[in-house]
Amino acid sequence: MKEIILTGDRPTGRLHVGHYAGSLKERVALQDSGRFDEIYIMIADAQALTDNAEHPEKVRQNIIQVALDYLACGLDPERSTIFIQSMIPELTELTFYYMNLVTVSRVQRNPTVKAEIQQRNFEASIPVGFLCYPISQAADITAFRATAVPAGEDQEPMLEQCREIVRKFNEIYGETLVEPKIVLPSRQSCMRLPGIDGKAKMSKSLGNCIYLSDPPEEVKRKVMSMFTDPTHLRKEDPGHTEGNPVFIYLDAFSRPEHFAEFLSEYSGLDELKDHYQRGGLGDVTVKEFLNQVMQAELSPIRQRRAQWEQRLPEVYEILKEGTASARTVAASTLRDVRHAMQIDYF
Ligand code: TRP
Repeated sequence: MKEIILTGDRPTGRLHVGHYAGSLKERVALQDSGRFDEIYIMIADAQALTDNAEHPEKVRQNIIQVALDYLACGLDPERSTIFIQSMIPELTELTFYYMNLVTVSRVQRNPTVKAEIQQRNFEASIPVGFLCYPISQAADITAFRATAVPAGEDQEPMLEQCREIVRKFNEIYGETLVEPKIVLPSRQSCMRLPGIDGKAKMSKSLGNCIYLSDPPEEVKRKVMSMFTDPTHLRKEDPGHTEGNPVFIYLDAFSRPEHFAEFLSEYSGLDELKDHYQRGGLGDVTVKEFLNQVMQAELSPIRQRRAQWEQRLPEVYEILKEGTASARTVAASTLRDVRHAMQIDYF
């Protein structure tokens, strides 16, 4: 069986280092591994509209920003098909058939949906489309017969719901759809990056993100202002590394080469953590090191982004071609689905 990837992002803002650590970096590694026969990367504008019905221009503008972020991170249109969700109406049709296989109480129980409803204060008035987005996500995944969905752990309930739909469909209409599995980031610390303010999640609305497109001074300013261990008041005080955003970021991004190049007094992260815990290591030293690590990681991304920004017509062309070829695949799955359901009347 072919190994196929499908994944994507809602274009509600530029992508940040949380997206990068949690998913983008892994995607590029999977792309480069050569282990996959097909890779589809979707800009989920239709999903973004489920809670942005009043702001279509925000979604529209961010499609190109997300595309630039993808290309900047090293997604290669020769190997990964990048496309726009809403331009593939077959996905909507699949969603409509899958809706009949899911109960309202089942979507309401989905932990990701539950959390998002709370975050958005939707409790009293949930848009129907928003409630159904896990079903639409199952359509996205199955339309491409994806076997693997690289995503953060918060997407696990979505994948579970998708597998339930696949099993139910196949049980009723005969073996047609493929069950996907999630591919989590390989480094544990990369699963979820906290915001620079120490809040559990990096999010645009909290204003606590470091964006992939931030200029170097902005990254530095953000790193130097990061929340650390509030009990580590003076340099001599013993500090906590666990749950400390600065160390979580170092877990996610620092490599032995960074120590050799920028902080050779320490053999590696364990030794740096030991010193912080013992006391005698100041936050500024650690943050300056983190800044150097982040700059090293982000600078090639920023450079590639700047190059693509000079070639916007080419970026649109990549999206247009990617969408056309993705549509062919989704249309073929839809034909199989209609055939299995015996509703292919003519
Ligand atoms: N839910 C994802 C996000 O919030 C976007 C998305 C839509 C997606 N459909 C998908 C991710 C299918 C993986 C698979 O960014």
